[in-house]
Amino acid sequence: MTVTPPTPDTVAFPQDRTCPYHPPASYDPLRSARPLSHVSLFDGRTVWVVTGQSVARDLLIDRRLSTDRGNRAFPMPTERFALSRKRRIALLGVDDPEHNAQRRMLIPSFTLKRITALRPRIQETVDRFLDAMVEQGPPADLVSAFALPVPSMVICSLLGVPYADHDFFEEQSRRLLRGPDVTDTEAAREQLDAYLGSLIDRKRREPGDGLLDELIHRGPDEKEIDREELISLATILLVAGHETTANMISLGTFTLLRHPDRLEELRSADSLLPAAVEELLRFLSIADGILRVATEDIEVAGETIRTDDGVVFSTSLINRDADSFTAPDSLDWHRPTRHHLAFGYGVHQCLGQNLARAEMEIALQSLFVRLPGLRLAAPAEEIPFKPGDTIQGMLELPVTW
Ligand code: HEM
Repeated sequence: MTVTPPTPDTVAFPQDRTCPYHPPASYDPLRSARPLSHVSLFDGRTVWVVTGQSVARDLLIDRRLSTDRGNRAFPMPTERFALSRKRRIALLGVDDPEHNAQRRMLIPSFTLKRITALRPRIQETVDRFLDAMVEQGPPADLVSAFALPVPSMVICSLLGVPYADHDFFEEQSRRLLRGPDVTDTEAAREQLDAYLGSLIDRKRREPGDGLLDELIHRGPDEKEIDREELISLATILLVAGHETTANMISLGTFTLLRHPDRLEELRSADSLLPAAVEELLRFLSIADGILRVATEDIEVAGETIRTDDGVVFSTSLINRDADSFTAPDSLDWHRPTRHHLAFGYGVHQCLGQNLARAEMEIALQSLFVRLPGLRLAAPAEEIPFKPGDTIQGMLELPVTW
């Protein structure tokens, strides 16, 4: 493994944002060095960082870049993340052909058609939490009253996980993504494994209704999935299925409230909603750091990525590449934005993107129609948001109406 020592001016990655909806200003040198430069990780290792849209697309479909976290050269952005070396992660942590086999089992449940059919149920869930929030407020913490429970309940019903257990798995996923230390993260992982393992055992005895049940009780011609793989699939679907969208709803709301002109424009034309969701995905780039390791030498943009080099894709910078987006630092509902990489690209592109889009559209629209006077209930600078080493979002969002 080539380890280039960081020079004093090598930018550290990841870093906390100073404003929750802009990439950290300290990443500016990386923007100037587009499309490819270097960053240093917490363990002192220097890796490639991709910041240009076109190079990112080329590399994200290049089979010489692997996502196998068991590879000792895989770049680890944090100590907590390095735990994934010890334990296999379904989908995101495996290459083809294993990845392809897992993904093919799941694709039918996430097609646009299946998600469109789910919309009435998503709307019911959104209305239910809005009703409860209105009944108890104002003020309210939008994260705990709305942004988190909506996607959490939706993914529970899709998977067949009892929503009654949501406090437990939301807490474990919080500890997995940003617990106080590595020991705590490991303990959370074990507790989540034990919970999902016993849920799977129960479902084997008493089949229920949901994607996990379908995966457990497969047809006679289909290969049975072993318990460990089922736990791993359930973990990624449950965690990725609620944390990410919750962050988009909370940070999306904060961003809209901080851009009253854009919010007004959106209110005046419902037809702008899908484009606005897409633009928010680009602008916020909450999953800022797609990771890969090179398994062969790759020539790209006049540089050579060597075997075993680590590669980090900074989606927040790629999605603000001025060659791809005019005035990339401003919010604009009218720009062509579909080519953003907020959901990644290539074979690992987000499996849940149709679901995430539907949830964001329904949640944001219903929130602003139901509460036309919605506003922040604390000075914007004082509202805490998540650190840079995790999925970006608001820790709390005090609102009133
Ligand atoms: C707005 C919300 C979301 C964002 C920004 C997001 C972002 C991403 C990104 C960037 C990747 C690619 C990672 C890589 O290539 O290494 C990914 C993969 C994935 N996402 Fe999402 N995601 C969101 C919502 C969801 C939801 C609701 C689900 C529900 C199941 C989900 C499930 C997954 C899965 C299973 C993968 C791995 C796919 C694979 O490896 O084949 N995501 N997501």
